[in-house]
Amino acid sequence: MLKGRNLIDPQDFTVEELEDIFKLAEEIIDNPEDFIHLCDGKVLGTLFFEPSTRTRLSFEAAMLRLGGKVIGFSEPNSSSVSKGENLADTIRTVAAYADIITMRHPKEGAPKYASYYSDVPLINAGDGGHQHPTQTLTDLLTIKVAKGSFSNLTIGLCGDLKFGRTVHSLIKAISRYENIKFILISPNELQTPEYIKTEILHKKSLDYVEVERLEEVIDKLDILYMTRVQKERFFNEADYIRLKDSYILDNGKLKTAKKDLTILHPLPRVNEISMEVDNDPRAWYFRQAKYGMFARMALIAKLLGVK
Ligand code: CP
Repeated sequence: MLKGRNLIDPQDFTVEELEDIFKLAEEIIDNPEDFIHLCDGKVLGTLFFEPSTRTRLSFEAAMLRLGGKVIGFSEPNSSSVSKGENLADTIRTVAAYADIITMRHPKEGAPKYASYYSDVPLINAGDGGHQHPTQTLTDLLTIKVAKGSFSNLTIGLCGDLKFGRTVHSLIKAISRYENIKFILISPNELQTPEYIKTEILHKKSLDYVEVERLEEVIDKLDILYMTRVQKERFFNEADYIRLKDSYILDNGKLKTAKKDLTILHPLPRVNEISMEVDNDPRAWYFRQAKYGMFARMALIAKLLGVK
């Protein structure tokens, strides 16, 4: 039963609960007109303390397409946060106005903390370099549509695996399926954090390797998940400039890739996928962004318990 629950961490829901969300999302994709009054009278609060295009707008579009309404801010300086209001008071207030809240915050753990002060469901829309569970719903729904299942896949995660929260969440969520192999492709300085390796990859004895060169492994991949180098998380601009162009996927690099490779990217991209790749049928990242709206429609409906 998902009604009334929060989504803070990608493992908050069981595999069966995720299946329920994907089943509803696929029903919405097939017949969106059947769902246009599902959230009549309901209000979503969107609290974005960090910039966003896809997450915020897909949440807003999701609620509007379900017949609900949206309140919130995309710039904390336009709210009383700029006068020094603390997070607990902001959340208590918005929970009095909205039936469900989604928030993005630069501080890791802020949505968890906020959930203690909310008496309506609270959804983590990204916390610092930590987790991004609704991007994971988006990624999993896209993989389900592209591949038909989540099992027996070799998944290459490429780029900034240190600060890229979408990668941390995807590893957590998809590690629960059968026969998954991870190939972690990053510069040494941007490797997957130790806590993900210890708590997930080692603990579950998962099959994984770490490499630096995409060209060495691209022919082995069923899924290639590209990420940008997260400029906003670097302490030192010189390090960012040195690492920012570590990987640029282009048509040349795709020559040895499988014909049914699925290329994903949570977006925004900077230049880690050349625009010439956009026309390749293996490029799924704009479809992925669209599936994000359907995944969030299903999530909102489930957490509100509307039928
Ligand atoms: N994927 C993602 O989180 O994009 P935004 O930062 O634009 O929301």
